This record gives sequence, structure tokens and C-alpha cells, in this order.
Amino acid sequence: MGNWKLHGSLDAIDQFANTWRGLALSPSVEVVICVPAPYFLHVRQQLPELGLGAQDCSAHESGAFTGEMSAQMLFDVGCRWVIVGHSERRLYHDETDSQVAAKASVAQKAGLHSVVCCGETLAQRQSGQQLAVVEAQLKASLASVALDKLIIAYEPVWAIGTGLVASPKQAEEMHLAIRGWLTELYGTEGISVPLLYGGSVKAESAGDLFACDNIDGALVGGASLEAESLAGIVEAA
Ligand code: PGA
Repeated sequence: MGNWKLHGSLDAIDQFANTWRGLALSPSVEVVICVPAPYFLHVRQQLPELGLGAQDCSAHESGAFTGEMSAQMLFDVGCRWVIVGHSERRLYHDETDSQVAAKASVAQKAGLHSVVCCGETLAQRQSGQQLAVVEAQLKASLASVALDKLIIAYEPVWAIGTGLVASPKQAEEMHLAIRGWLTELYGTEGISVPLLYGGSVKAESAGDLFACDNIDGALVGGASLEAESLAGIVEAA
């Protein structure tokens, strides 16, 4: 799953689409890109073979909330996925776990897959608190969230956009723990929730991550902006 963040233009999408069409990628890997909202329709037209996602949605279904986009609107224009609780939203927009949970719930109600993000900071990892931090964050971010169409992305904050990818051992340890917490929350069905790793994933690092038992895919920022680099990750998958 690609996350374009605040990047992109009509030209960049056209270029991406031209290159992407020339690559013979395995259809067995599901590829989704989450682009800024003004480009949803252009991406749908140019890249119908890719799934379309949003990077956030409102916790409200409708009403006087200037600047917000509802999950139902996202579904209406062709999005089938939405990222909620990305660390950049938590950091720059003060999003709390309970707001993230509310967003995930409205997204599910609207028929979207919600990709709920969690992850520890560098200071928290250095002090050995990563498992406790992510457990608390994840459980609070999933309060009253149903299992239906749920996806979890583990994104250690220190690995996002820094070039510091978590080692497969660090990522797998956390993913295994997340499976356990999902089982506590949802029973045995929790085992089937797809778990994505995110944080400086590149084609070169993706193969070793995907080889881990509990890593089902990746949430990719920088390397999803160019068709070739995203394709390298798809090939690794
Ligand atoms: P990155 O971003 O791949 O550029 O580190 C990942 C993300 O923030 O989802």
C-alpha cells in the first residue's frame, strides 16, 4: 500500500501511470495507493488496476465540519481503503486514540477497509517500552472497532521517512505481539487481520520483511511515489 502523503500532481500521476503500464507485475499482489483527495478521480481514470485509498477521514458522518471528508464520500468517489491514525496525523493534528477508533468505525460502516496505524517513537524504543506503548495505543485505537475490513499497520515513528528501516527481527517481534493482542480483542478470528509494516520500506529491504511469518504487506511512503520503486516492492512481495 502506497501513501503519497502531501505529494503528487496531475503530471506526476500521468508519468507514474505510463511507467506502471509498462511493467508486467504479478496480479497476485494487491496494490493500493493512498493519494491526496484532489487526485482521486484522476488516479481512478489513469490507474484503474490499482486500489484507491485515502490518508484520513472524518470521525463524523456529516454535518457542519468545514474541511472534513466523510468516509461515505470517500467510498462514493471510489476509495476502498483509508489510513487512520498515521503518526503524522497523531503528531501534527493531535489525533487521539479515541478519535482514531471513531474514524476506523465510521470507515467500516461506510464499507471502507480501515488501516489503523500504530508505532513507538525512538525514545520509547530506546527505553525498552515499545511493546507496552504499542499495545496500549493499539487497544485504545481499536475500542469498539469491528473486525470487518480491519488492517493494522505497524510503523515505528523512528523509521518513517528516515531511511532507518526496522530490522526484520524487530518488525516480526512486534507483528507477532500484535497478532496476540488482536486475538485477545477479537478471539481466534483476530489472527486473520492483515498486518502491514511501514517505515522506510524499499525494494532492497522488502524481501526480508515479507519473508517474516507475520508481515503480510507494507505501507510505503517515499518509495511509492515512483512507479519503478513501488514495483520493486511488489516484486519482492
Ligand atoms: P516512508 O513512509 O516509507 O517514507 O518511511 C511510510 C509511512 O509514513 O507510511
